[in-house]
Amino acid sequence: MSKIKISCVLALTVVWNVFVLVKNDSAIYTARHFPGLDDLFIEDQYFLREIENISKLECSKFCSEDLQCISFFYNELQIKCRLHSSGWYNPQEGAAASNWTYHVLGEKGCPVHSGFIHDRFYGMCVHLSTDFVNGTAEGESYCASKESSMITFSDATKIPKFTSTMNKHNPTFLDYNANGNFQAYIGLFYSSGTWLWSDGTALSSDTNWGPTQPNSPASIKCVAVSFKPSVNIWQWNDISCNRFSRVLCEIPH
Ligand SMILES: *[C@@H]1O[C@H](CO)[C@@H](O)[C@H](O)[C@H]1NC(C)=O
Ligand SMILES: *[C@@H]1O[C@H](CO)[C@@H](O)[C@H](O)[C@H]1NC(C)=O
Ligand SMILES: *[C@@H]1O[C@H](CO)[C@@H](O)[C@H](O)[C@H]1NC(C)=O
Repeated sequence: MSKIKISCVLALTVVWNVFVLVKNDSAIYTARHFPGLDDLFIEDQYFLREIENISKLECSKFCSEDLQCISFFYNELQIKCRLHSSGWYNPQEGAAASNWTYHVLGEKGCPVHSGFIHDRFYGMCVHLSTDFVNGTAEGESYCASKESSMITFSDATKIPKFTSTMNKHNPTFLDYNANGNFQAYIGLFYSSGTWLWSDGTALSSDTNWGPTQPNSPASIKCVAVSFKPSVNIWQWNDISCNRFSRVLCEIPH
């Protein structure tokens, strides 16, 4: 079986249809069909399990009942359901396999159809921009256009949840700078001698600065979260606000 690459653009521009609503406790989950990822077989660390002889509706219910489950493949001919704990639409490797359809489970309120990562296990709904933005102001506009805000960590318990969410998704699409890091703006900036979150709160002592950070002169007032693939950590780095970078948006969940 040949390995094929799926492009981010392809996955994000597909027309998708609501196919079933599943009521699970108080939340309503919507499984949506992403035709762009049909006819694939993915066997990676995000594969949870395969269930035989169940309908697509039952498959969706199994997924909604498993907090780890984000998406599933269903094969109507073989009557098989494959649950996955990843739903990130970046390029990833899968083997071509006919007659499988791909569905993503989205909780109401996290628009996975417009490129948000919804991790029910960690309670995160985040989006890594496809566009590059010049500083926090443009970052806020970009996130606002997606009805979200730049990600903040004024609630420090989100720091490990964010790292776990991001590491759960295949980061191979990330573009690295000359230092081998990937960077995206977060909603933290330096103003009148204080570090402020874009939600208006001051930075507490619960921080996630990388080693030796912040280390830039006072003229440098924006912050990016920097990902080092060698260690799988996402830490903060103060950078120029006059730099085109990606931005991380969030819908509180
Ligand atoms: C699924 O159904 C087929 C045909 O009825 C049967 O042979 C098979 O054992 C079933 N598999 C499971 C896991 O129940
Ligand atoms: C996929 O389904 C078509 C009919 O819809 C069938 O002809 C084909 O053999 C199937 N392929 C596989 C790999 O099951
Ligand atoms: C980026 O934004 C800064 C203001 O923060 C501005 O001075 C600069 O001209 C902008 N750069 C471009 C290329 O638009």
